[in-house]
Amino acid sequence: MKNIDSRTHVRGESVYLDDIPLIQGTLFGAAFGSPIAHGIIKTLDLSAAAAMPGVVKIFTYEDVTGENQIGGIVPDEPLLAEHHVHFCGMPIAFVVAETDDEARAAVKRITVEIEPLPVITDPREAYAQGEFIIRPRTHKLGETTTAWSQCTHIFEGRADTNGQEHLYIETQGAYAIPQENNAIKLYSSTQGPTAVQRAVARSSGLHMHQIDVDVTRLGGGFGGKEDQANMWAALCALAAHVLHKPVKYALNRMEDMAMTGKRHPYSSDFKIGLDNDLNILAYEATFYQNAGASADLSPAVMERTLFHCTSTYFIPNVTATAYSCRTHLPPNTAFRGFGGPQGMFVIEAAITKAAESLGIDASVIQAKNLNKTGDEFAYGQKAVSEAHACWNKANELYDLEAIRDNIAKFNSVNLLYKKGLALMPICFGISFTNTRMNQARALVHVYTDGSVGVSTGAVEMGQGVNTKMLQVAAHVLSIQPDRVKLQTTSTYRIANTSPSAASATADLNGKAVQMACTEIVRRLKVVAAGELNVSAEEIFLKDEWVYANGERTDWNWNQLVMEAFTKRVSLSEHAHYATPDIHYDASEEKGHPFTYHVYGTAIVDVTIDCLRGTYEMESVKVVHDFGVSMNPLIDRGQIEGGIVQGLGWMTMEEIVFDQAGRLRSNALSTYKVPDIYSVPKEIAIEPLKTEQDNLAIFRSKAVGEPPLMYGIGAYFALRNAVRAFNPMATIPFDAPMTPEKLLLALYQSPTAPHPMPSANGETEVAQHLAVNS
Ligand code: MTE
Ligand code: HPA
Ligand code: MOS
Repeated sequence: MKNIDSRTHVRGESVYLDDIPLIQGTLFGAAFGSPIAHGIIKTLDLSAAAAMPGVVKIFTYEDVTGENQIGGIVPDEPLLAEHHVHFCGMPIAFVVAETDDEARAAVKRITVEIEPLPVITDPREAYAQGEFIIRPRTHKLGETTTAWSQCTHIFEGRADTNGQEHLYIETQGAYAIPQENNAIKLYSSTQGPTAVQRAVARSSGLHMHQIDVDVTRLGGGFGGKEDQANMWAALCALAAHVLHKPVKYALNRMEDMAMTGKRHPYSSDFKIGLDNDLNILAYEATFYQNAGASADLSPAVMERTLFHCTSTYFIPNVTATAYSCRTHLPPNTAFRGFGGPQGMFVIEAAITKAAESLGIDASVIQAKNLNKTGDEFAYGQKAVSEAHACWNKANELYDLEAIRDNIAKFNSVNLLYKKGLALMPICFGISFTNTRMNQARALVHVYTDGSVGVSTGAVEMGQGVNTKMLQVAAHVLSIQPDRVKLQTTSTYRIANTSPSAASATADLNGKAVQMACTEIVRRLKVVAAGELNVSAEEIFLKDEWVYANGERTDWNWNQLVMEAFTKRVSLSEHAHYATPDIHYDASEEKGHPFTYHVYGTAIVDVTIDCLRGTYEMESVKVVHDFGVSMNPLIDRGQIEGGIVQGLGWMTMEEIVFDQAGRLRSNALSTYKVPDIYSVPKEIAIEPLKTEQDNLAIFRSKAVGEPPLMYGIGAYFALRNAVRAFNPMATIPFDAPMTPEKLLLALYQSPTAPHPMPSANGETEVAQHLAVNS
């Protein structure tokens, strides 16, 4: 089934926040963000701004009618700064004016005097100063301290990954409309309608039942709107509540880039030990997470880094510790993979370091250590593993030997271009790591004309969840898909939702839809049984017809629905699903946090230009563990998008903050995201068909985040290509591998680590080739 939004998308008819017709009298907000990263506010002068045309009111923390606090996990984030500022762009004031131009013009006239304090941008520096968001946590399996003595080979190193802009096409924004009796209707571009509802209730001083957050769809979220839509919704709601007027604020791109958090940069240390047969016996890792100025979701992200620190490998002795370090950057937040990719990069770096030191291909160590069913993760859960199945199938199907031969041949005859290859196996746990978030509700109404309305807590953000929900309802009710409509996601209809995140949205909400529809079918069968004088067990519904004892009757869906209504049988159901059998004890750091894992293997192949340092992604060839995909078109789209987003993070997207904590990569001219030319020339996706049952909706495993981690392979493929040109290069594990870094590595010699290539690159190339041959 095609994505149900595809028609309105290509016709430009799909409705996003900015497409909602404005109510007369709507006012516009704009935030004034701190010009410096850390300091104490001495004076705030609003007079010039307040005198600007169209300005209605300028809100500061003193105008907050509820609690000036929006921190979710830790209450450390004011809605509007009081006396301290902790990052550049931290909202200090909120201007409300008659037009958005007037609001932004007034923002420019606000002046603030801030006494500067020292700025920390590096998580290791924060660590050294004891600046932590929460206590450190350690995952432990076996005993590394004694395991080292059994290792023949031990390697240590450091690995760094940079942040990443979410770059959802639709920026953050909200539109708050006051209702009678102080209620507020909010349109918000959020993955978490309930999170927005809570933040608004708290900061405006209202009850949650007064706040209807209504979401049609997002133009992308990627984790950036799991928590960070709250700020803008709370500001608009506060202004609407105080002024009794509708208030809208849709951030422009530069405001969005400057004021919102990104993927967490990490700096990490690793130590890996192998025996003679290349079994990894011991692994230690220390993760320094750059959390930014307040907690936001950092504690949960840090936890997932630990869960995925050994990726898809079984390692009997593991000690991994993570520190959430407070710096003066915008609070970093959820981003596709949620800390998992950062942990997985480090173990791949460790394996690569071992392989390079031993003069073998990393894939030899990777293959040797893939987990098997029954192997224990450091957090206590036992694997139900598809790791070998995916790896072996990818090797055979794509003829890895032939790919290798071609690359070797190419590299032996080409001087200025080199190819590189890497394999990237993945293993990603599905469920919110916070067990209590793994619940969802659905409300299904069958109307008397036989049409069906479905509401869930799921937010459509391009990932196709609404299409999947529709498929579930149509399948269980056994009716045509066009009878079913997915309603907007509203906190008045579905309460206490988890955000659409953790790749678990279709599983959680889909199971609730399945339960609600199953219950309605049960009631309809009783009605049909009464009419047909058989027992309800003998009735089934198929393709809009009632069958009794295996025979089609002359009762159809419409008649049955009408009959149920006439008999005063409820045609509506509200169902609640809670994932069974998951638990986690954070004090022991043991449990069974994930419903299941998603596996896969990618073969990534790149070509570099050794004069220019540029590169092309040739192919990404994947065998992916779908379970049984309920929508192959959508799931392929998720994999393609995930791969491109992952290799963007690993290769070209470079966030730069200066020492003063100011974002320099603050626009699309200074921050390079993958475009169509960066997409691999070939993306092959082959499903691994698995027989095992799993707890996914219709056995169709979650697909939103796991493919992003295939992109990690691009980093290591580029590295291998560089080493084909310059075997002497000792390249730091420091992603992204931008063209600049790649060029430096190409011409690096062991004695002089980063010589710039001479203007006459060709001579240099010739010299190097002479040395290396
Ligand atoms: N795909 C699109 N098109 N847009 C998005 O914003 N977000 C990703 C992923 N795929 C995203 C996306 C993230 S971070 C997650 S957690 C999942 O989708 C969320 O949706 P799901 O739970 O339905 O997979
Ligand atoms: N993934 C994504 N978002 C989350 C999680 C998670 O595991 N936990 C809390 N929010
Ligand atoms: Mo996704 S990072 O869990 O929104």
